[in-house]
Amino acid sequence: MQPFYVTTPIYYVNDKPHIGHAYSTVAADVWSRYARVRGRPTYFLTGLDEHGLKIERRATELGMAPQAFVDQMAEPFESAWRQARCEHDDFIRTTEPRHKERAQRLWRRLEDAGDIYLGHYEDWYCVGCESFKTEKELLPGNLCPQHKRPVERIQEESYFFRLSRFTEPLLAFYEANPRFVQPVARFNEVKAFVREGLRDLSVSRTSFRWGVPVPGNDAHVMYVWLDALTNYISALGGPAPAGEAPLYDRFWGDDAEIVHIVGKDILRFHAVYWPAFLLSARLRVPTRVWAHGWLTVNGEKMSKGLGNFLPPGPLIEAFGADVLRYYFMREVAFGQDGDFSHQNLLSRYHGELGNGLGNLLNRLVSSIVAKHLGGVVPRIDLDALLPLDRALIDEAQRAAAAAAGHIEDGAFHRALDAIWELVGAANRYVDTTAPWKLAKAGETTRLQQVSYVVLESLRWLSLTLWPILPDKCDALRAQLGVGPVRCAPDEDLWPSTFGALSAGTKVAPGAPLFPRFTPEQEAELLARLVPTDDRKPPPAAPPSKPAAPAATAAATPAAPAAPIAPAIAFDDFAKVDLRVGHVRTAEKVPKSAKLFRLMIDLGEGAPRQVLAGLAAHYAAADLVGKRVVVVANLAPRTMMGLESRGMVLAATDAAGALRVVEAGDTLPPGARLS
Ligand code: ME8
Repeated sequence: MQPFYVTTPIYYVNDKPHIGHAYSTVAADVWSRYARVRGRPTYFLTGLDEHGLKIERRATELGMAPQAFVDQMAEPFESAWRQARCEHDDFIRTTEPRHKERAQRLWRRLEDAGDIYLGHYEDWYCVGCESFKTEKELLPGNLCPQHKRPVERIQEESYFFRLSRFTEPLLAFYEANPRFVQPVARFNEVKAFVREGLRDLSVSRTSFRWGVPVPGNDAHVMYVWLDALTNYISALGGPAPAGEAPLYDRFWGDDAEIVHIVGKDILRFHAVYWPAFLLSARLRVPTRVWAHGWLTVNGEKMSKGLGNFLPPGPLIEAFGADVLRYYFMREVAFGQDGDFSHQNLLSRYHGELGNGLGNLLNRLVSSIVAKHLGGVVPRIDLDALLPLDRALIDEAQRAAAAAAGHIEDGAFHRALDAIWELVGAANRYVDTTAPWKLAKAGETTRLQQVSYVVLESLRWLSLTLWPILPDKCDALRAQLGVGPVRCAPDEDLWPSTFGALSAGTKVAPGAPLFPRFTPEQEAELLARLVPTDDRKPPPAAPPSKPAAPAATAAATPAAPAAPIAPAIAFDDFAKVDLRVGHVRTAEKVPKSAKLFRLMIDLGEGAPRQVLAGLAAHYAAADLVGKRVVVVANLAPRTMMGLESRGMVLAATDAAGALRVVEAGDTLPPGARLS
């Protein structure tokens, strides 16, 4: 059987996992479980993207060494996926030696192909995207169109990848592989982008160290996206000559089906850069890149500012992993944007899952088979079934075939539509045939026929739904008296022959699969799970620390303000170069009661050292991350043996404490005050 390899993006570890990450990971798990049910050799990879400026800065903000920081972030991701019942075969972290070594191997292959050269870079960079931006892409005020935050000017020596050489080869590849990117509309956007002509890509950095060293030139680290994309092959042991890495040979071999599941935000990296790297390195290109849409939460974009990053854990604790998995796959047409709404989740839980599937099982197993058929699956003559029964069997066959086709196409919502046709048809069949009346009337043969047809339909449902609802399906199977789904290589478990449920099997009625919540429980759940407005910081929240900004302090002066100094000419003022500075690190100067040693980013490429007499007024950690105002052209001064290159502006507040003057978040480091 054709090997199947499915991957998720490797997530940045600057934040904890949220339901957006869970959505991609669940989709990949569903696809991988489906392939396993079909008996295909399957490999499912997820992991973490641990290098780059974004991670380094986050670690610095927290006063941690980057490695210690990423180490502590790995666990929350792994446990979130365990909790969501995602059974990945490997979990790759880009700081692992096995990855770094192979990322360097790929680099050498690009170099050997003549596609790497040393040059000089000057352009805009968005740290949020870890990506360069062209002027054309920026919003007014030099804001990143995605993060709506200022981009930074980067100038440095850099290695380049000759991406421009791949405009034509990529277009030819797309032409030959018309389903390479799904959905098709997104593929069209990719092609339009490539048709405009590709620019060479800067693939190394010298201004920070948190990355994979460039082989042969330790002054550079590899561009985080080149490093990260390599995870898809490094986890398999590649690139490697045939015979050296069996997983790589099998799952990156020419006959494997390789599917990358990604969010639409990172499609360009996967559909343009990654295939170009692979073409250059003479390695095969994946079969498909599936770009799914973006989830909002209760109609709102998830963002740090709104405080509505929804972690999957509490939802899973409240409903169980399967319900969240079902909701993801059912609610949002895979490929389209969608909304995660707690209210909708509850209504699908009670409606489709409880009243639809759970009730069907309950009606049959607990009420009919246990009470009227001695608790065993009856023996029937399939040839003696009536057209009404055959219609339900046909429906089961249609549903299973359609669901398989849709899952193979990544149309999970369609697969569920098809399967729920069967759930609906089976419930209607029970209504029409009214087995409880047959029992009362003593029509045993007909009761046996009807019951068997429904029990076998339930068994089919337990297999077709298993990739999405693995635990509930195994629980359903336990009530039917059949064992849990056990995938085995080369064994196709997808239902195809109606009638495989053995007569005489003892059913085991159990608790409802989807117990109802009372209205009070529902209200309690919603109150607990929905991020409410008062838990979000208001848009212009006052700082949580006592760091009253200058304006606030000025509004409540303790004493009359000091007299204004004599007037100066504009030219005198213009000599003072005031800049916005982003405080990257802060630490106390040893043996000084007053001084902090700050590293401040003034948009110059590398942060500069400034000493500030703030130690009696702030904890070091409170200064990190602040945007302050710096006198950038003050002549350097040496204090306590350290050179200070500039001065941070501060003022005294009503209580006599020194407070730094803060520039707003929208002003980029290096912006000049005038
Ligand atoms: O981009 N809705 O990592 P990342 C749906 N490290 N999916 C969402 C989502 C949302 N609101 N938010 C996040 C990176 N995602 C890189 C990837 S791969 C070689 C490197 C999902 O932590 C979606 O899959 O920013 C998106 O592409 C991914 O998380 C971005 O994760």
